[in-house]
Amino acid sequence: MANETAVAQSAQGAPACGGGFVGELSRKEFLRKLGWACFATYMVGSVLAMLRFMFPNVLYEPPTSFKAGKPDEYPINSVSTKWTKSKRVWVVRTPKGFYALWARCTHLGCTPNWFESERRFKCPCHGSNFTMQGDVIFGPAPKPLYRAAIAKTDDGQLLIDKGRLENRPGARERGDFFLPHAENA
Ligand code: FES
Repeated sequence: MANETAVAQSAQGAPACGGGFVGELSRKEFLRKLGWACFATYMVGSVLAMLRFMFPNVLYEPPTSFKAGKPDEYPINSVSTKWTKSKRVWVVRTPKGFYALWARCTHLGCTPNWFESERRFKCPCHGSNFTMQGDVIFGPAPKPLYRAAIAKTDDGQLLIDKGRLENRPGARERGDFFLPHAENA
């Protein structure tokens, strides 16, 4: 009877001795553990990559604000192009105070030029013209130039922040977008 059982097991391909059967189980167990280890490594790697993406350690955005010097560096009734190239801003001083215009055309974003003799900004791309206040005189530009926030620092310099913009008549002449001379004394 025992012989018949051994023959039957051999016929089904099962190992004849107990040691071989244990070896087969160990290999399966090893492969199962290896699979889980690979999966766990993949998951941990994915989570770490996602966290790394969410918290970049390098900020490529340039700062939006900068100090533009002392108020008396700017003559009354002038448009200063001193910061146009480096900061893309014109500093305008009127008899009443200061504002900073963002040198970006509201049509497609080109940089207009200031023409002192005509007292206007002209965009070289499609011909939009703007007044000293930033209003559209003609051209495809759909709205006035934007003004950047302007304030005075503790050391008496103008502080311009392109991170805050305004171009609506009324709103742009007050608050953070116009610095009256009284605040410059
Ligand atoms: S980008 Fe200035 S007119 Fe088109």
